[in-house]
Amino acid sequence: MNSGALASLRCPDCAKSLGPPEGCPTCPGCARAFAPSDGVWDLLPHALDPVKTHEDEAHAEIGLPTWQRLFFHKRYWLEWCEKRWLPDLVDGRTRSFLEIGGGLCYASALAKARSPRAAVIATDVSPRYLRQHAIRTGEILGTPADMYAAVDAETLPFDDGQFDAVYSQVVLYRLPDPVRTLREIRRVLAPGGRYLGIERASPWMPGFAASEARALASRAREQGTRERAIRYREWLAILKDAGMEAYCLAPVPGGRVSAPWLRRLGNGARQIYVAIMFTR
Ligand SMILES: C[S@@+](CC[C@H](N)C(=O)[O-])C[C@H]1O[C@@H](n2cnc3c(N)ncnc32)[C@H](O)[C@@H]1O
Ligand SMILES: [Zn+2]
Repeated sequence: MNSGALASLRCPDCAKSLGPPEGCPTCPGCARAFAPSDGVWDLLPHALDPVKTHEDEAHAEIGLPTWQRLFFHKRYWLEWCEKRWLPDLVDGRTRSFLEIGGGLCYASALAKARSPRAAVIATDVSPRYLRQHAIRTGEILGTPADMYAAVDAETLPFDDGQFDAVYSQVVLYRLPDPVRTLREIRRVLAPGGRYLGIERASPWMPGFAASEARALASRAREQGTRERAIRYREWLAILKDAGMEAYCLAPVPGGRVSAPWLRRLGNGARQIYVAIMFTR
């Protein structure tokens, strides 16, 4: 269990502070009451863009149990997250960790294992996914998060300046407004706190770019989401709009090719992963 208090919440509808999630807080601004249901807090704004409710529907059961999702679909991601990415973000001194768009939320479970005293909050826009899979993932990995909450990345329901570490993995590319999300992340980071986001950068050579963009757009149309192809220079523009410097973006080194310039070159024909990292 974490040694300190969990995060201080704020109302997703009127932005008034609710304090820590003890008992069942009621918003002093709009009187909305908050309580967990089946282990998951609903901290979503009442007015939610349909592309975000469609994210929840996209997770409607396709029948795979959690363990199969974890070990068949995500096993390499689990390993990369544990060995390559979280060590840059979480250690024994981390007091609070927030995962955004966590899906199965294995990153939260792995962060809890790395820093058992940290308050770990696992979130996703899909309450269904959290209830059906994220809680079970925490049980399977043996280190559940301290709190599971349905949260919109663009309206983080947390008071300012409190998280030592914020993490997201392939989430921003499917948000209507990633710039707003990056600003929200910076807002909730504690002074000296760090954000790490892993994202995909689509190929930059026109033929390859067009075919990937078509594939993602067609899936997005089918599911009613805002998933889309974003190229490296478009990520740079997003960071700039969010008030961040270009050095916050770097290609994730590959198994065989680690030099950043070679990764960028290879990115002409195939997608690569990029890391967005900044400190408040
Ligand atoms: C490609 S999945 C990645 C899941 C997980 N991070 C992983 O890497 O295994 C994208 C996740 O983002 C979540 N998501 C989409 N829109 C969101 C939003 N507006 N706020 C928070 N999460 C969102 C989806 O529900 C989904 O779980
Ligand atoms: Zn309120």
